Amino acid sequence: MGKTILEMIDIKKSFSGIYALSGINFSLEMGEVHALLGENGAGKSTLIKVLGGIYKPDSGTIKINGQEVEINGVSDAQEKGIGIIHQEIVLVPYLTVAQNLFLGREIKTKFGTVDMRETNRRAGEMLANLGVNIHPDTLVESLTIAQQQMVEIVKAVSFDGRIIVMDEPTSSLSNDEVEQLFGIIERLKAKQVSIIYISHRMEELFRISDRVTIIRDGAYVGTKKTSETNANELVAMMVGRELESFYARDYNDLGHAETALEVKNLTCEGVFSDISFRVRKGEILGFAGLVGAGRSEIMECIFGARKYQSGTILLNGKEVRFTTPIQAIKAGIGLVPEDRKKQGLVLGNTVGFNLTLASIDSYINGIAISDRKCQEVIDYYKEKLHIKAVADRVELVEAGSLSGGNQQKIVLGKWLAIKPDVLILDEPTRGVDVNAKFEIYSVINELAKAGIAVIMVSSELPEIINMCDNVCVIKAGKMTGMLGREELDQERIMQYAAGGEE
Ligand SMILES: Nc1ncnc2c1ncn2[C@@H]1O[C@H](COP(=O)(O)OP(=O)(O)OP(=O)(O)O)[C@@H](O)[C@H]1O
Ligand SMILES: [Mg+2]
Repeated sequence: MGKTILEMIDIKKSFSGIYALSGINFSLEMGEVHALLGENGAGKSTLIKVLGGIYKPDSGTIKINGQEVEINGVSDAQEKGIGIIHQEIVLVPYLTVAQNLFLGREIKTKFGTVDMRETNRRAGEMLANLGVNIHPDTLVESLTIAQQQMVEIVKAVSFDGRIIVMDEPTSSLSNDEVEQLFGIIERLKAKQVSIIYISHRMEELFRISDRVTIIRDGAYVGTKKTSETNANELVAMMVGRELESFYARDYNDLGHAETALEVKNLTCEGVFSDISFRVRKGEILGFAGLVGAGRSEIMECIFGARKYQSGTILLNGKEVRFTTPIQAIKAGIGLVPEDRKKQGLVLGNTVGFNLTLASIDSYINGIAISDRKCQEVIDYYKEKLHIKAVADRVELVEAGSLSGGNQQKIVLGKWLAIKPDVLILDEPTRGVDVNAKFEIYSVINELAKAGIAVIMVSSELPEIINMCDNVCVIKAGKMTGMLGREELDQERIMQYAAGGEE
């Protein structure tokens, strides 16, 4: 490593008079992977948007190759060699991969029409160059999120990007896909491309980054060489204190607990088959397995969001078969889906509105909605989940202006506030920072203590192991194991989830 390619010095940026960035320093060397770490709302995406020409900073200096520059808009940033893969995917879904790669710089035939053959050929080359195995004339909407992300990377690099920013690239990738992405990062490094990498997954930072810069509440905290630090130190820098014990779980005696939900031989052809389990009041039942094993689909069937061909579902002893989620919610089942970005946040409305949206029926006093009850619920969840914005009263802020992780917390809070009999959580801590994780575990624990039956689908084995009473392991649509709390360890779960034939 050596030459500094990018310097950002004392960058400040405010929204409505309040600082989201209050003086950030960041430097990047050629061929370096530099991680940017900070809690939800710390200012990571905002800093990146300043670099990408989306926001104009209030003050501060940006230097590229030692030259002071001003970045005027997105295409100016591209021309300066900066390529950004944002937290939200911005490809056009109804165009092909090749069309997306050449959007705005279409290759023309001599008759002035778009030369699709040449577009596809060049796109194919670009994909192959980075070892991405996707056909150029595939429609983007038919790609998985991971594949879309790969296409975004290919696109960013193809503008002759010397600085590539990845804002939480792995939050929805499976393990294999993460490995593929890391392969691409290695290739880019070898080409002396520099990478800014944002992720809440500590183990990734340790695998691929050379240095880590930590920011907290919009302020610069420090920069460390990855090889000279450890997770505890980084977390302490990030949250400003040492975290106590991470998992809070008071186990209930389930010996006499009533069964809240029982599923018998549930089958959804081509997706999963013959799934049977029960979850009791006060129990947390985990669902482990690889991404794509069919766990989310099982939950969707229970919730009335997907059709199934056979099997029986009993809720509090009574057979049910929901054909829409509304029926399931009315009967007392809640599901917080995996893809919370798509999940009904009214972005133009306030945080408070969104938090109470789904549970509003329970705040009715006689005929009117009790503002006091609403406010209590809002206060509880904004406290509990650390929902943060650059404003004093978060509940009055537009949900759309919150950081990615904070938006996820609102969706989670909205569902937790319903307090259903059975609560299904699909990857509840994806995309949220360590502090919020801790708080989410404590809220889940409290719900279980109050007698709610909780199902937790998670790919994070530590949270499965430390939070669940029992764990059902799914492999390729089949149940391969049901493990009790004493039997839970990573190797055993992985063996059931991915191992050979038993
Ligand atoms: N357009 C905007 N208007 C008002 N406030 C904003 C705007 N964009 C960001 N903010 C605020 O700036 C702060 C930093 O947000 P940012 O998105 O940079 O956080 P982040 O570090 O990327 O968090 P996460 O890990 O959750 O993605 C947040 O408090 C957010 O509410
Ligand atoms: Mg962000």
